[in-house]
Amino acid sequence: MTDVTVAGGGLIGLSVAWRAAQRGLSVTVVDDAPGTGASWAAAGMLAPVTEAGYGEEALLRLSLASLQAWPGFAAEVEHAGGLPVGLRTAGTLAVGFDDDDMRVLDALHTFQRELGLEAERLTGRAARRREPSLTTRVRGALLVPGDHSVDGRALHAALLAAAEATGVRLVRERVAGVHVDGGRAAGLRLAGGDLLAAGTVVLALGARSGGLPGVPPLPVRPVKGQILRLAGAAGLLEGTVRALVRGRQVYLVPYAGDRLVVGATVEDRGFDATVTAGGVHELLHDAIDVVPGVSELELVETLARWRPGTADNAPLLGPSQLPGLVLATGHHRNGVLLTPVTGDAVAGLLATGALPEVAAPFTPDRFGRNP
Ligand code: GLY
Repeated sequence: MTDVTVAGGGLIGLSVAWRAAQRGLSVTVVDDAPGTGASWAAAGMLAPVTEAGYGEEALLRLSLASLQAWPGFAAEVEHAGGLPVGLRTAGTLAVGFDDDDMRVLDALHTFQRELGLEAERLTGRAARRREPSLTTRVRGALLVPGDHSVDGRALHAALLAAAEATGVRLVRERVAGVHVDGGRAAGLRLAGGDLLAAGTVVLALGARSGGLPGVPPLPVRPVKGQILRLAGAAGLLEGTVRALVRGRQVYLVPYAGDRLVVGATVEDRGFDATVTAGGVHELLHDAIDVVPGVSELELVETLARWRPGTADNAPLLGPSQLPGLVLATGHHRNGVLLTPVTGDAVAGLLATGALPEVAAPFTPDRFGRNP
């Protein structure tokens, strides 16, 4: 019997497990292939200011709290796990390709200023001074010095090492369902037939959190993202470039040595893992329009994974309607950014019974008992 078992060994599950173990709880994580879901695809943007949207102010507060926690979290993971996480603090440039794109960016800038967020409007020329590889066709940009990035795959490896060094046990088996006994979650059923008994079950299976046997209906759906990895990009970009290209969004995130991530499509297609010619074409076409040098790079990887989407784009954090089952899922486009705050909030709940105030708007009951 373990105090806590966590279904899912991606970034969210591991951060909860690690923080809970630091608080003295015995923790077992169950995952047959940890870190190969959304954590494997993520570009690693820590970008709440360039992602800010009207009507999502509570999510922005949670995201800013997590962004603030990031430098300390990264240092602590690196220290505990003995591996680098690849945090880059070069900021983000959001660029517009035509006049309509600039109108959208200017509206975003107005919203950012209303909220007191740091963002500077640049001309196209000033944007190119910062990122000389941008096309001369870029009309203007917003420079957001506080929106950073991290290497999601390196982070996962380091977080797993940190968790194990802190006593978290990893069981590499597929989760078959939540074991319900006497009307409460009492552990996990494993695909091999074993039962793992636990005082509390944490569900951190990302897009696969809904539909697991034993779990009440959850408002989590897969939102497909196709994403590309390219090599040979050393020196091409200073920091992340997000672009609006004739109304379509594309982002370019430099990481580790000479690598560049270009992403991502946003598709409601269920658990379809197909990498399509159209998806790759669209991403490369828009990326090359913005940074022509991308056409010289080697395309080394294409993949598709699923963001855990919710109706309000915000995560589900806290007790579910099934006693003993705690949710840490539904992070949609912000899983990497929200990793520190989720780990702290959910581990705090497990250890003390209370969620911190910043996480309170994200309890699953906001969707009612039968979402
Ligand atoms: N956070 C970027 C994405 O979901 O594509």
